[in-house]
Amino acid sequence: MARIRGTQKALELLAQMTTWIVDEPERYRGQWRTSFFQNDHPLHIELGTGRGGFLLALAQREKETNFIGIERFAPVLAKAAKHAEETGAPNVAFLHEDVTRLPAFFSVGEVDRIYINFVDPWPKKRHAKRRLTHTNYLRLYKQILREGGSIVLKTDNEQLFEFSLNEFAENRFQLRGITFDLHHSEFAAGNVITEYERRFIEQGKQIYRCEAIWEG
Ligand SMILES: C[S@@+](CC[C@H](N)C(=O)[O-])C[C@H]1O[C@@H](n2cnc3c(N)ncnc32)[C@H](O)[C@@H]1O
Repeated sequence: MARIRGTQKALELLAQMTTWIVDEPERYRGQWRTSFFQNDHPLHIELGTGRGGFLLALAQREKETNFIGIERFAPVLAKAAKHAEETGAPNVAFLHEDVTRLPAFFSVGEVDRIYINFVDPWPKKRHAKRRLTHTNYLRLYKQILREGGSIVLKTDNEQLFEFSLNEFAENRFQLRGITFDLHHSEFAAGNVITEYERRFIEQGKQIYRCEAIWEG
């Protein structure tokens, strides 16, 4: 459960930052546009948003899109909220929640895009079900994605990338925009670098990236 993760201090901080951290997000299910953001813009969410740098930069760039970051670890989310306070984007919010609970927060077809950036690869086979691109997770994403909506995945881990491509294909997602070296590809120009991505670039690692389209 999301709310038991993190120090008491971080939890208290999150409770005070209600401008950025949405309390009881269930109440906006099916109404993020109408009640929360009060516009009809597309809704893009990021799973495991960490310190939120990626989402906040995108929100500055794409002002006609609503962004929600989901993160279960309170101390890093508190950093995201502080960062949000400094940059102040009105089209961004964060949930202190676990990805497994997504359908409690978003109704069928409510989400236009899901970003999954540099999540834990869980390399041991017996931990495969913990990978955020495992079939069990894809079933959750299919419940909330609109037809034609997409998942955009970035990772430094070749095994996770191959595993994810197979899982997407087996779950009737259409794959496109695949690159095994994002920073030397046609997608480099529009790419927003995440905190973990920056570390991997500095280590000279290649970045894998793909889009999986849900056609319903
Ligand atoms: C390796 S970090 C990457 C952070 C960020 N996406 C980036 O690229 O810099 C992965 C993050 O995903 C979060 N995470 C992993 N599984 C999660 C889950 N089931 N629900 C919510 N957050 C999760 C972790 O707490 C961690 O902050």
